Amino acid sequence: MEIQLWRELLAPYELAVDELLVKFNHIINEYRQEAVYSPIEQVTGREKAQKKGFPIDHIMEMIEDVAGIRIICQFVEDIYDVVNIIKSRSDMTVIREKDYIKNRKESGYRSYHIIISYSVETSKGKKDIPVEIQIRTLAMNFWSTIEHSLQYKYHESIPEHIRVRLSSAAEAILRLDEEMSSIHEEIMDAQNSFTYKANIVNDILINIQNL
Ligand code: GTP
Ligand code: MG
Repeated sequence: MEIQLWRELLAPYELAVDELLVKFNHIINEYRQEAVYSPIEQVTGREKAQKKGFPIDHIMEMIEDVAGIRIICQFVEDIYDVVNIIKSRSDMTVIREKDYIKNRKESGYRSYHIIISYSVETSKGKKDIPVEIQIRTLAMNFWSTIEHSLQYKYHESIPEHIRVRLSSAAEAILRLDEEMSSIHEEIMDAQNSFTYKANIVNDILINIQNL
C-alpha cells in the first residue's frame, strides 16, 4: 500500500525529470547539428527521495529535493550560458537560484543551483512540479561525486585529515577550471571544426547509402 502511494506521488516528478532530460538532450543535438559548440556537455536525472527512502509525511518538507536534473558543462562560462537558456524558456519558471560558484560552500562544493517550476500533464490534470537543476563543470562534478561518496561512507562526518585533503582538492579544481577557461576559445574552435568535419563525413556516408 505504502509503495503504491509512493508511486502515485512520485509519478509526476518522474515525468518532469524524463521530459526535461528529453528537452536538454534536444538542445545538445540542435547545437551538434548546426556544428556549433554546445554549452551543455551532458545531462542526467536524479531521484533522491526514493533512494533515501523518506517517509511520505515528510514529502512536503523536502518537496523541492524530489525531482532533480544535473547539467554538466565543460567550462565555467558555459554554466552561465545554460542559466540564460533556462531563463529564456517559456516552459520553465525560475523559483530560486543559488550560485555556489561565486559563493562556494564551506565544504568546498561549487555548483549553480536553479529551482524551476515545470508543468506536467497527468491523467488528473496539470501539475506544477519544482525541479532542482544543478549546473556544474566536469571538474566540479568530479570533486562533488568524490566528496558525496565520502559523506556517504562516513555518514556525513568526514574525518578532519580527509576534509583538509578535500579542501585542497577543491582549490586545485578551482584552478583547473580557471586554466581551462583561459584556453576556452582555442578548445571551442577545435571542437567546432571537429563537429563540422564529423557532419560532413556523416553526410557523405548517407549519400553513399542512398546511391
Ligand atoms: P539549503 O536548502 O539552502 O538549506 O541548502 P542545502 O545545504 O540543502 O543545499 P542546496 O539545497 O542548495 O543543495 C542541495 C543539493 O546540492 C544536495 O542534495 C547535493 O546534491 C548538492 N550539495 C549541496 N552541498 C553539497 C556538498 O557540500 N557536497 C556535495 N557533494 N553536494 C552538495
Ligand atoms: Mg536544500
